[in-house]
Amino acid sequence: MDMTTSIVDHTFRKDVRRCFDEQAYAIPARWLYDRRGSELFEDITELPEYYPTRTETGLLLDHGSDFASAIGKGRAVIEFGSGSSVKTPHLLRAIDPAAYVPIDISGEFLEHSAAMLQDDFPDLPVHPVEADFMRRVQLPDAVAELPKLGFFPGSTIGNMIARSSVDLLRSMRETLGIGSQLLIGMDRVKDRQVLLDAYDDSAGVTAQFSLNLLDRINRELDGDIPVGKFRHVAVWNDDYARVEIYLEAQDDVTFSIDGTSHSLAAGQRIHIENSHKFGLRDARLMLRAGGWTPLEDWSDERDYFTLILAEAHPYKHAP
Ligand code: AVI
Repeated sequence: MDMTTSIVDHTFRKDVRRCFDEQAYAIPARWLYDRRGSELFEDITELPEYYPTRTETGLLLDHGSDFASAIGKGRAVIEFGSGSSVKTPHLLRAIDPAAYVPIDISGEFLEHSAAMLQDDFPDLPVHPVEADFMRRVQLPDAVAELPKLGFFPGSTIGNMIARSSVDLLRSMRETLGIGSQLLIGMDRVKDRQVLLDAYDDSAGVTAQFSLNLLDRINRELDGDIPVGKFRHVAVWNDDYARVEIYLEAQDDVTFSIDGTSHSLAAGQRIHIENSHKFGLRDARLMLRAGGWTPLEDWSDERDYFTLILAEAHPYKHAP
């Protein structure tokens, strides 16, 4: 077993224990993305109800010349949580960068998608970095002197609570340095039913994505949770401007994990994900709180999704 596997195992076990031993009934959303979860998420991005991926890709395709003038050529593009890097080629074609640095926690995924991208851009220096982008990342020496553009698409920032988003934006500022730019995707507040359908699709793929977390616990932590007794629930929390995802026990259930027995009453919910949605002013305020000055933004005609370009200016004295 390599180090990465054992650290992941240890933290996963700890988070799942806290959920049931301390009756916290919440598990961090990052554990949704094992191999099966990542495949199911790819399927989600193609669902008719899941508009974010399609809308953001449309913005990247439609605004290439705006990016070229606002960002310019010759930057190192640093992608945070690059995953399969599907949207990246559209940006790279528009701004003709000097290098590309995909950062991802999953080394296997990273090597594969970096190699695919290299095939499409044979002259572009690609320097993959396997790291947890939630902390400051040491960038390769090869890009040290280049101006930088951080790229954080997908509204992944929306999966964090406010204080973690601000911490992340600050650590991105440290990773990239003063004078760098950041192009970030943010999903907008919109009609409640559109949001609920996007997170509870008619084909049930999002439900499978959520329930896979229980399968993962059974597989990796020696559990016997009766997965069929749980259902996926998506709720709009207007106060927090977020879709909340829960797994709800439909009957009284008893199961064991790691040799410890647990019981949940019918109706008990386990909170497994938040997906925050943003007004434009909320988005700008969050960026400023994280040390980024918004420069320009681009939205689709329905205002479903926005790409914001921001810059890391030196801090000034304020009144
Ligand atoms: C990865 N993230 C931006 C997705 C979202 O829309 O919050 C995760 C997701 N969960 C269920 N559907 C999509």
